[in-house]
Amino acid sequence: MTTAMRPGAGRARAAIAAKTLRTDRWWLAPLVTFVGLAAWVTYATVRVFMHDYFFVEQYHYLTPFYSPCLTDLCGPAAMFGTPLPSFFLLPEAALTLPFLLLFRLTCYYYRKAYYRAFWLSPPACAVPDGHEKYSGETRFPLIFQNAHRYAFYAAGIISIINTWDAIIAFRSGDEFGFGLGNVILVVNVVMLWAYTLSCHSCRHIAGGRLKHFSRHPVRYRFWTFVSKLNTRHMQLAWITLGTLALTDFYIMGLEIGWFSDLRFIN
Ligand code: FES
Repeated sequence: MTTAMRPGAGRARAAIAAKTLRTDRWWLAPLVTFVGLAAWVTYATVRVFMHDYFFVEQYHYLTPFYSPCLTDLCGPAAMFGTPLPSFFLLPEAALTLPFLLLFRLTCYYYRKAYYRAFWLSPPACAVPDGHEKYSGETRFPLIFQNAHRYAFYAAGIISIINTWDAIIAFRSGDEFGFGLGNVILVVNVVMLWAYTLSCHSCRHIAGGRLKHFSRHPVRYRFWTFVSKLNTRHMQLAWITLGTLALTDFYIMGLEIGWFSDLRFIN
């Protein structure tokens, strides 16, 4: 429908003196989002630059915040060699963390969340924008939000690495072992896959640009599966923040000696 045909096109908004006519607690959702994301980012930043308590050698538990571990501080946690020097400002997973950050920052859900909670752009429906001007995602730096699909490809590779970490953690010394840490690592990796596959870009890759689903049954099935996951994308975005922090905290606690791993086998 063209602008000329749209009902009400060309008419100015009603002049309303009040900032918003909403009387419900519209500010609660952006406030909760702000507190939740700020807390998580603070925790993750502290942990990434702690350079310690990231690997339980006895059970091969490696926290996802340090995977793959690539600096010469990694010791036995270095499963892909140590091509990087250890340096305070360089995280052990320096080659993957920027892509994970990009993946989350450019995620359609997180964009909505932090535009509302941090930039007040706008904080809620029918509440005015906190900024005078809005140029959308058409200019630098927000035009880079369009790189999300490429961040998705990188996140897929990183999820494979996390899966490998969870698999080789079923070792206790040189034997098979299974403990609560394994359960936590596996749940985290399953949730990471669910979040990654529920991505809007993944859905488009699966079923986009097809004219006839009937001629592409495999892609149709995958698209149907991804579409179901996609309806839970927001929940998965938050669940994975929780499982990532829990996995990291559990491994840090084990390594420091706050508690021991509950072992079911070996
Ligand atoms: Fe959220 Fe792609 S849209 S990860």
